[in-house]
Amino acid sequence: INVLILNGPNLNLLGKRETKIYGNNTLSDLSKKLYEEAELLNISLDIFQSNAEHCLIEKIHLGLNKINFMIFNPAAFTHTSIALRDAILSVNIPFIEVHISNIYSRESFRSHSWFSDISSGIICGFGFDGYVWALRSIPKKLQVK
Ligand code: DQA
Repeated sequence: INVLILNGPNLNLLGKRETKIYGNNTLSDLSKKLYEEAELLNISLDIFQSNAEHCLIEKIHLGLNKINFMIFNPAAFTHTSIALRDAILSVNIPFIEVHISNIYSRESFRSHSWFSDISSGIICGFGFDGYVWALRSIPKKLQVK
């Protein structure tokens, strides 16, 4: 199984940015944990982060006919980007939407996502564990399909 984990803007600053909300661990701590978990699950994993909408869009396009499943934390683009939504619909790759924080317990503008209704599932509010749980659920999600 080929899985792509995509992280949107400002997630490169994990461990430094708003640590009360996002914690003290870094994106490379998270990636290390996910690569280890992927090996146990026999999943071939690619992890990508960008602050630029068009780079995320191009990465999604490159997944066409290659990537079986994505885990996507669109970060602030969650609440703004129809272009990223359209990119996912264009390649038709199933994905789980993940947020580190509980987007429903924060500012009201975070309660709307352009991705939830086209996602295979959503995990939010569980910190980095959400990514691990999403990864573990993928083999079963692909069987059920
Ligand atoms: C986030 C939540 C978003 O509202 C925010 O813009 C982020 C991170 C999360 O993982 O909790 O950058 O996606």
